[in-house]
Amino acid sequence: MSPKRIIIVGASSGIGYELAKLYIESGWEVGIAARRTEPLELLKQMSPAHVFISAIDVTTDLASVALQDLIDLMKGVDVYVHVAGIGYQNPDLEIEVELATIDTNAQGFTRLVDTAYQHMAQNGGGQIAIISSIAGTRGLGLAPAYSATKKFQNTYIEALAQLSSMQSHGICFTDIRPGFVDTPLLAGDYRYPMLLKAPQVARSIKKAISKRKRVIIIDWKYRILNFFWQLIPHGLWQKLSIGRLKGNAPSEQEDKPNA
Ligand SMILES: NC(=O)c1ccc[n+]([C@@H]2O[C@H](COP(=O)([O-])OP(=O)(O)OC[C@H]3O[C@@H](n4cnc5c(N)ncnc54)[C@H](OP(=O)(O)O)[C@@H]3O)[C@@H](O)[C@H]2O)c1
Repeated sequence: MSPKRIIIVGASSGIGYELAKLYIESGWEVGIAARRTEPLELLKQMSPAHVFISAIDVTTDLASVALQDLIDLMKGVDVYVHVAGIGYQNPDLEIEVELATIDTNAQGFTRLVDTAYQHMAQNGGGQIAIISSIAGTRGLGLAPAYSATKKFQNTYIEALAQLSSMQSHGICFTDIRPGFVDTPLLAGDYRYPMLLKAPQVARSIKKAISKRKRVIIIDWKYRILNFFWQLIPHGLWQKLSIGRLKGNAPSEQEDKPNA
């Protein structure tokens, strides 16, 4: 039997990098993409004949063509995983930060996920997995664009799952929502509770993909937290403060990456 094929966009660091390592170690044909190719070259060294690299910036129009080229190079794809994303604490609402986040996490996300969907719809189906976040559960005051775009991703995938069913496209969807994970995205001085390790999160993601879970929150502690977040009335939610700087007042905060 020929090995299964997976493409991971956003594989140059953090969660995507660890996930790519796991699939390479498991003997899959693995397509990896991001803007930075040096880390992708390191991954390719693990199994040169079975790893395929593409430089993709999801915010450009060329990204769809680049993904299609990568799929063609691999002679098809069974699983597409969309990991690429950015996130910043932006209490001053700097508009460039907000719009860049929307560009990457909403527009870029749609561009690439739709390309994978269209390929699978025309080629007998497949599986699309996305790494969204528990940040999409409620609006986070320190990261409006980040939490809003993660909610967008949750809803977009839900819509595509219904579309695939209506049109019998045979595509299965997995929405993975991790809590805070120790990656470059969280670099900075903010205090994050219950920080998860990227290799552990990657193992849980691989398991969720193989079980074809529809939605999964990682890990169990965040499942409990998420349950209670959903119950909090709007009036009380707006009074909470989530994601303060270590030891500093909110007014002293600088913009830093967000979970
Ligand atoms: N860390 C957390 O606490 C956490 C929690 C929940 C969800 N997530 C989500 O998990 C995903 C991965 O984040 P991470 O924590 O692993 O952060 P990370 O280490 O910063 O990784 C982000 C990845 O996205 C890629 N990327 C960013 N902008 C891109 C663009 N325009 N085009 C193509 N690729 C792009 C980066 O590659 P290049 O820079 O090389 O392009 C990198 O590979 C994100 O979607 C994030 O929202 C993270």
